[in-house]
Order: sequence, then C-alpha cells, then structure tokens
Amino acid sequence: MARILITSAIPYINGIKHLGNLVGSQLPADLYARYQRGRGNEVMFLCATDEHGTPAELAAAKADQPVAEFCAEMHAVQADIARRFGLSFDHFGRSSSPQNHKLTQHFAGKLAEAGLIREVSEKQVYSNADGRFLPDRYIEGTCPNCGYDKARGDQCENCTKQLDPTDLIEPRSAISGSTDLEVRETKHLYLCQSQLKDQLDAWIDSKSDWPILTTSIAKKWLHDGDGLQDRGITRDLDWGVPVKKGDQEWPGMEGKVFYVWFDAPIEYIACAGEWAEANGKTDADWERWWRTDKGADDVRYVQFMGKDNVPFHTLSFPATILGSGEPWKMVDHLKSFNYLNYDGGQFSTSQGRGVFMDQALEILPADYWRWWLLSHAPESSDSEFTWENFQQSVNKDLADVLGNFVSRITKFCRSKFGEVVPEGGAYGEQEQALITELTTRIRAYEGHMEAMEVRKSAQELRAIWVAGNEYLQSAAPWSVFKEDPDRAAGQVRLGLNLIRLYAVLSAPFIPDASARMLDALNCDDDSWPHDVEAAVSVLQPGHAFTVPDVLFAKITDEQREEWQTRFSGTRD
Ligand code: MF3
Ligand code: ZN
Repeated sequence: MARILITSAIPYINGIKHLGNLVGSQLPADLYARYQRGRGNEVMFLCATDEHGTPAELAAAKADQPVAEFCAEMHAVQADIARRFGLSFDHFGRSSSPQNHKLTQHFAGKLAEAGLIREVSEKQVYSNADGRFLPDRYIEGTCPNCGYDKARGDQCENCTKQLDPTDLIEPRSAISGSTDLEVRETKHLYLCQSQLKDQLDAWIDSKSDWPILTTSIAKKWLHDGDGLQDRGITRDLDWGVPVKKGDQEWPGMEGKVFYVWFDAPIEYIACAGEWAEANGKTDADWERWWRTDKGADDVRYVQFMGKDNVPFHTLSFPATILGSGEPWKMVDHLKSFNYLNYDGGQFSTSQGRGVFMDQALEILPADYWRWWLLSHAPESSDSEFTWENFQQSVNKDLADVLGNFVSRITKFCRSKFGEVVPEGGAYGEQEQALITELTTRIRAYEGHMEAMEVRKSAQELRAIWVAGNEYLQSAAPWSVFKEDPDRAAGQVRLGLNLIRLYAVLSAPFIPDASARMLDALNCDDDSWPHDVEAAVSVLQPGHAFTVPDVLFAKITDEQREEWQTRFSGTRD
C-alpha cells in the first residue's frame, strides 16, 4: 500500500470561491485523492483557508467585522461549501491556527540561524489618521496614466499599468479615505533566496517528470533578468503571525507580522498538526507524513494549484524548507492548471463575475459541476465555461450515456425478472469481447489518473460508459428475451454488474451518483476492478436491488437561458 500526501492550494479567506478557482486546485486534488483511496492506498489530503494578509483585512473591513471573527465565520462557510461539493479533505485547516503560528516562527528562527535572513530599511507610506503603515494596495488615488480615480498603489485596475504608491495623484488611504499620509522609514526581514539559487536549480532539475508549465515558470524566475531575488517576508500589519525567532522575540520587529505568502504554504504542514489535534492523534501520527526522519521518506507528495501559484511552490516555499536545513518532506509532483474563463471573459472575484460555488449548488447538485469542470479542466491551455457547453455535456454524458444505461437495465430487469439479479445465462462471446475492451480501457483510465491527466481520464471514463451502452444496444436483451429468456438473463446480469463497476470507477468524478448506484444495487462492495472478469460477477443471481430514481436530469433550454441571464452580470 502506497502512502500519498495531497495538498491543494489553500483558498483565500476573503470570499466564496468561483468555479475557476475550484477547477484549478481543490477539485482535481479531490479527484486524485478519491482515486488513490479507491485503489486502496493510504491518503492524507489537506487543505485550509489562507487567512492572513491585506485581502483578509480588507474583506473584514468591508463586512464591518473584526478580522478574526470574519475569518472564523468565512472558514465555516467555505468548509460547508467544500463538503457539499464532495471535497474529501482529511482536514480543512486554517492558516491562522496556533500550529501554523508556531511552525512559521520556527522556520523563521531556523532560517535566521542559517544566516539566510537579513534586515532591510525601507520607506513606506504611513497614514496618520489610521495610525498604521499602508501596504501598496491600501493606497488609492488617480492613475497618472489614464486618469481613473480609484487606481490602487500597486496597479491601476482600469488601464492595468503597474504603479508605485508615489505615482498616484492625490493619494489617500483606502481604509479611511484620509489624505494625511507621509513616507516613513520601516525595517523588514528579507529571505536571502539568492543564496539558495543553486540548490533550488538542482532540485528542480531532479524533477524530470514535471509538466513543462511548472518547470518553465520556475526556470524563468531562476534565470531571467537578475535571477532569483531576495524577498521581504514581513509586513506592517496587525493581523498575521507575529514576527518571532522560534519562541524568542525579534528585536526591532515588534508589532510586525510575517508576509502571508511566507506563512501560507507552511500551513500545508501545520494543517497535519491540526488534523492530529482534531482526531486525537499524536505528533508522530502527522510527522510520519511530513518528516523524512520520521517515516515520510516513502511518502509521495503531490500538490495541486493554478499557474499563478507556481513560483511560490517551486521557489519560495522550497527555499524556506531547504534553508531550514531540516528534513521536511518536499513535493514530488506539482500539478498546475491554466485558467478557466467564463462566457467570453474572465471569472473575477473582485467584480463578482461568473458562477460562485454556493450559487452553483443552488441550481444543480455537485456531480453535474464536478463532471463538467473536470472533463474540461484547463490543462494544456485556458478553457472556457459556456452554458451551452455545460448543458450539452450534462445531457449527453451524464443523462444519455450513464444515466440512461442504469435506468434501462434496472427497469428492464424489473419488468421481466423482478428486482433481483436473474439466474442462468452464462456469459458468451459478446460478453467476453466487452470484458476484453473494458480491461484495456480501465488500464488506460488508471494510467491517466496516475499521471493526473484529468481530461484524458474523463474521456476514458466516458468511453467505458459508452462501451456498456453499445453492448446493451447490440445484445438487445428485450428482443432476445422473446426467443431465449435464459440468454437475456445473462445479459441483464452482466448489465447490473456493470452498474457496480461504473459506480466504483466513476466515484472520483461523481461521488454522489456513484453512492446512489451502489445503494440501489444494495451493494457495499466497492473494490477496485483489477480483474474485470471477476468484477462483473460480484453481483450473484438472487441478489436483490431496487430501481433507482433518475440519476441525472437533463438541463432544458429554458433552464439554460434562465441561468445564462441570471449569471450574466456581476454579483453584489
Ligand atoms: N491563497 C492562495 C491563492 O488562492 C494560494 C495559497 S497556496 C499556499 O492563490 F501555498 F500558499 F498555501
Ligand atoms: Zn490607469
């Protein structure tokens, strides 16, 4: 039994995620976790909310709540939506946990001991009215380039020009609107990533099986321009992990916190500690996943994320780990995704454009979305959600192919043999041919799943469903029954067994429908079909089942049009 550690990029706490966020990290990670569990492997699947930084503070201010309270509430909201989407985390943690505070401070202490942290004096905008330093995006003003009057200190949203806060005309605080701003000196810690450049380079070179999308991004940051830059890992904010060296104070750093991108990936590790605490486990129980000196050397660690996250996972986080000099488990395979667009434009959290996870579940069950998103995952290039395409795949793949198969065979059996697996009828040539085809296809499906080729896996799964439909169509038990009821009984028995087989194979994609299929079959044997011949004999003659309700309802043109209109604007 292999041991597989899986993490998905941890979603920002600032709001409910849209389907583009979902398909780029949490959903494919869940697919992989469910598949590996289905194969009988030991899986630890971790995710969390990313709770620190400016976006969290801004969102809390907008909701008129203290930030800690906002984060606690939003964590519960996100956890609930994740559960309803079938995301099967072993733990859904919080980057603001005590475990992460402690571990983040621990890493900073180790990096300082290794001489990899230096102090830098910087000039930064201070707001007298707010009594605090303002990060770039907390400063608003008029864009010198296009005249837009709500340009942010880091970038103008209107013309996309990158800005410095000092470029803005009539700068003001985004928190209070005050223009009583001044430039002050402040000290920050920098992680000396440049000193780790060769080590990182060699580490990335050792990952020959990584996708080009991943390594090319990493190599670009390592080698382009001036190469890997040292990076500020502290901020003048109230909310975050206080800057400390292990459990010691850090002179001169009082009142400062670590930068959100420093503590967020450390939460991958801390989250396992939270898991242990929540489940009455010991430190040794989580360390065997994360410490190579404590059993994690035989763990395979896979990360899932959108392409914008790749630099942090191939360079910054590995720099933190390598620099610590401690034996932490590092990522073995990093699966990254392009972007999913929405109906001719981009999904946008700030503009509320597209379909958000809670809204999606209001209109259809999770499986419909899971199937579309995964079968259209933006792997080799960006992909696009359109309502027409969604309607088409749901109706064709789920309703016409899989749903129809299940309903036809169970209803036919009920009408001719009753709700039990019929006796008689040995499997003949046609059945053997199907078993051979399925064996080839299932081995291909396993190959794609192991390689995390999400779209190819979906295509192969669909082909497996189609093969059953085609068999049924050509075997035609409804005509055979008139001449040779015994033979028809064998065909029906095979069909019923195929439902079980499909439930097992499809569970990573559509877990609810799979559970309903097994339930209708009155069967809890969800063992993986290593041997297809044996797998289609699990349900024996005499075994009782019930005809399930419609598995997937078709999306009508009226529904599609209604949703198209409802989701054409932006959410408020
Ligand atoms: N919150 C970030 C995002 O949504 C991802 C953080 S991933 C981690 O883009 F590595 F920092 F944890
Ligand atoms: Zn502008």
